[in-house]
Amino acid sequence: MAIENFEEKVNILEKESKEAIQEASDLARLENIRIKYLGRKGVLNELVKELPDIREGSRARFGHSINFAKDNLERLIDEKSQELKNEFIAEKLEKEKIDITMPGKIFALGHLHPLTKVERRIEDIFQSMGFEIVFGSEIESEYYNFDALNIPKNHPARDLQDTFWLRRGLLLRTHTSPMQARYMEKNNPPLRIIVPGRVFRHEATDASHEIQFHQVEGLMVGEDVSLANLKAVFEEFFKKFFSTRGKKIEVRFRPGYFPFVEPGMEIDIKIASSKWLEVVGAGMVHRKVFKSAGYAPGKQQGFAFGLGLERLAMLYYGINDIRLFYSSDFRFLKQF
Ligand code: DAH
Repeated sequence: MAIENFEEKVNILEKESKEAIQEASDLARLENIRIKYLGRKGVLNELVKELPDIREGSRARFGHSINFAKDNLERLIDEKSQELKNEFIAEKLEKEKIDITMPGKIFALGHLHPLTKVERRIEDIFQSMGFEIVFGSEIESEYYNFDALNIPKNHPARDLQDTFWLRRGLLLRTHTSPMQARYMEKNNPPLRIIVPGRVFRHEATDASHEIQFHQVEGLMVGEDVSLANLKAVFEEFFKKFFSTRGKKIEVRFRPGYFPFVEPGMEIDIKIASSKWLEVVGAGMVHRKVFKSAGYAPGKQQGFAFGLGLERLAMLYYGINDIRLFYSSDFRFLKQF
């Protein structure tokens, strides 16, 4: 066959493939075109098989025109491929464009429970007065919950605190006071601690009673800790605690009875023009409590107190039913 005819064939193939490349609308189609023309068994390589039919003198020219066509096609395919990739990226960028000036979505975040907030507030204030925070166990022994606190067996005081009894003389602590005894057994004065925690009473619930509630116990012991210190601490505490409420607070100390203090007292507060409310039990630590803890008689003195966390939280937020704290009711919880 005459070389001119071959060249004509190559020209036609080149033209045809160029058109195909131009029309290719995506990378997969382009790849098919490449395989069809440039692949190992592609159209151009098939043409090479016809080489023996060509006169010897023209073979080099033939080879040259085939290679020229291949190079050309390769280049065109590369260019087209780059073009398609750019288009793809531009399209993707356009689709995924983020408008950073748009207002963000607001996700509902959880927040702390009102009791936790009030507890932390109380902790902060006492810490600022040099008190350390310690924790006790919710399961206590009869000894620490009662005996070590001078609440003898069969004493009516035990009936005041309706107890959830567990097996083997264990119980759910009815107050945080057992940590007074436990702490003093292990630590020497001077000391200043508060003990926040949950306590349990086996009693009917109503707007001001729950079977579980929280107390913050306090204890300050040293050689010259006096009632005056107790008064000063609570004047300061209430002033700070209610400072964000912007209301006038009055504090009153009244005699009260608790077996583990002598003298014992109740601390009442009056917020603005409302009536007096009892919020804290307190007193000077009873010598028998010091004795149980192993302190030498007559050397140390100190005060103890127990405040009701729910009670304070109710006053702070103006809540009238203690049961709301444990209701898991979002309408209630979302207000804090
Ligand atoms: N433990 C008492 C109660 O649960 C409260 C209390 C009163 C604690 C007087 C004290 C205190 O430390 O001195 O009712």
